Amino acid sequence: MTARQKLPFTSPYLLAPMQGVTEPSFRERVLERNGPGALGGTFTEFCRVVRTPLPRRVLSAHLGEKRFPQPVGLQLMGSDAQAMAQTAARAVEISAPLIDLNFGCPAKGALRGCAGAALLDEPARVEELVRAVRKAIGEETPLSAKIRAGGEDDRNVEALARAVEGGGADLLIVHARTRREGYSVAADWRRLERAVGAVSIPVCGNGGIHEYGDLERLRRTTGCALAMVGRAALADPWIFSGGGVSRGEAARFLIDYAAGLMDRGACTLESALRRVKQLLRYWTAGGLVTDDNRLSWLREENPEALMARLERALGGEEIGRNRADSGELLGDLTCRRGAQREHGRSIHER
Ligand SMILES: Cc1cc2nc3c(=O)[nH]c(=O)nc-3n(C[C@H](O)[C@H](O)[C@H](O)COP(=O)(O)O)c2cc1C
Repeated sequence: MTARQKLPFTSPYLLAPMQGVTEPSFRERVLERNGPGALGGTFTEFCRVVRTPLPRRVLSAHLGEKRFPQPVGLQLMGSDAQAMAQTAARAVEISAPLIDLNFGCPAKGALRGCAGAALLDEPARVEELVRAVRKAIGEETPLSAKIRAGGEDDRNVEALARAVEGGGADLLIVHARTRREGYSVAADWRRLERAVGAVSIPVCGNGGIHEYGDLERLRRTTGCALAMVGRAALADPWIFSGGGVSRGEAARFLIDYAAGLMDRGACTLESALRRVKQLLRYWTAGGLVTDDNRLSWLREENPEALMARLERALGGEEIGRNRADSGELLGDLTCRRGAQREHGRSIHER
């Protein structure tokens, strides 16, 4: 069976790639908490390819060590077809289950390098890049491309969708906002419907999913085969499963996330907790952070105090059950702080 006939996702709901967030520690915590019937798969943050192909060890670090029933696609962003193709071929050699190409990033660095969302004005170049990667990886490994609904406006959404299909991708992922719209305006899902109408490959719709019910609503109203969640999964990593979690479960996620970052040597305690605070800007799960207390969490400058506050939030639920484990948390993380100094640089530094 060729990739075109079968995508590897275990459910139609996907976690979006998010640079600076969906590194292995965050992804693993989300995958552990949402079974394969709920969360169908996810992606690495983008791996920026400039003029030379990325080394296998960098790609491996992005993929992480743990494997789950759900696939983690490796996302590449660049504009040099040869370097992108060679990097994709290396990703397949190290068993990446899916390759995704980023044509949506509006960051200045990407635009200056004529990559990411810069290419939304040039459907022909999108097609050329997809084709080069398809040729390099063969037919067996699924290939997707993630676009926005357009650059300055949405008039090219059909042309972009057809470029992705014409280049040989198996899946088109569409973020319903244009490059000009950035992230804040409401996502116009009618553009997803237009993309679905323009191609015969499956389309994954993205943008503006806020709660569990929106996942199915997006599929139903647009005809998209799949739905992808970005920031709402930073507010509630359980969004793919529906139903609430307790305050203790929410705190446990954040503590495990910080520990995971430090285990890989990717972070100091201070930078791990900066990452935790980045999540707390969005967080709603378990009622741990509310509009009333969000600022007090974000203003916490002392990493030990922030961790102690998370520990307290584990509360009777977990501390009562397993005092030894949770009582040692802060000590544990402080030890990891020493160990990570030995470990070396983060994947972002490599
Ligand atoms: C912090 C952050 C980082 C992102 N990084 C990436 C990335 O690496 N690759 C990508 O294709 N999209 C990236 N995106 C875009 C998201 O994947 C998604 O398309 C966007 O957030 C819209 O979905 P939402 O409305 O559900 O958040 C990023 C978004 C955010 C907020």
